[in-house]
Amino acid sequence: VQGLNYLAQNAGKLYFGTATQNTELTDTAYTSYMENNLHFGQITPGNSMKWDATEPEPGTFTFTDGDVIADIAKNYGMYLRGHNLVWYQQLPDWVTANNYNATGLTAVVQTHVTTEVAHYKGQVYAWDVINEPLNDDGTFREDVFYDTLGTDYITIALQAARAADPNAKLYINDYNIEYVGEKSTAMQNLVKQLQADNVPIDGIGMESHFIVGEVPTTLVENFQAFADLGIEFAITELDIRMELPETAANLDQQKTDFYTVVNACLQVSACRGITVWDWTDKYSWIPSTFSGYGAATPFDDNLVEKPAFDGIVIALEGG
Ligand code: G3I
Repeated sequence: VQGLNYLAQNAGKLYFGTATQNTELTDTAYTSYMENNLHFGQITPGNSMKWDATEPEPGTFTFTDGDVIADIAKNYGMYLRGHNLVWYQQLPDWVTANNYNATGLTAVVQTHVTTEVAHYKGQVYAWDVINEPLNDDGTFREDVFYDTLGTDYITIALQAARAADPNAKLYINDYNIEYVGEKSTAMQNLVKQLQADNVPIDGIGMESHFIVGEVPTTLVENFQAFADLGIEFAITELDIRMELPETAANLDQQKTDFYTVVNACLQVSACRGITVWDWTDKYSWIPSTFSGYGAATPFDDNLVEKPAFDGIVIALEGG
């Protein structure tokens, strides 16, 4: 079987990729999958480019761990997705504790975005400039950025990112926007507003954290609605969790579900690529967050391909 990245590119996509974490890189069995560049032509740092990791104190930047991931991308010829610049989670305490006014927080956002994007200038295919700005009902999330600046924080961050690396694609990334519904509509309205205001926006990240047997049926219709806005998009954090212990029936359903998601990306040309939120169950974030759930990735704990892997291959081969 050809590797997933080869098959994705053969099907007209830029890449098939994965998230990874710096702590996993001492596992040589794991890293060998990246070194031979068989399956993954794109990489996303799971944590090491986030605000708490890169600017733990105001104006003090540390890019050591992020650079390790960027170097992997460089050494193995992988696309790099920068993740992420402005998010209410994994935000160092000082951003909220200092009670900045609008002028102060504007400067804080500009400094953070400008410094990080400039550091990785020329290395990043796409930045998740804004992460998870919406509530599930489509209203804006009331975090420190929105509460202080309203939606201006989105504009401020996107403009700073564009100025710092004009060639990087600028994305907004979120979950529960993969299917037709009020959150997706709200994201489309945000894109339209940014376009009307001449604010740079190139793409939307569809996280795609799904549940076995519950993959939405309106993926293609929804993806096309984003494409019709004249932007690109990507599946940025794909995993499909199941209740543990795993069963043969659920592993088989998971194969169908991975097929469905990958095939949906293939149906819409504006879908640039697919990233799994790590490729092995050994390092998936799911069990630590969703008690009783797991087995969400295409490879098992022993790095062996699961039926889900075959589902991806069949989709990429156009089957
Ligand atoms: O770094 C500390 C370590 O010092 C400490 O000993 C350890 C003890 O718990 O925690 C470590 O931090 C953890 C960090 O991952 C690094 O491993 C945090 O507790 C843990 O909460 C954090 O989880 C990350 C999560 O984002 C935080 O929201 C996951 O790894 C990461 O996969 C996940 O990724 C997010 C995307 O960024 C956005 N979309 C959703 C996705 C899944 O939640």
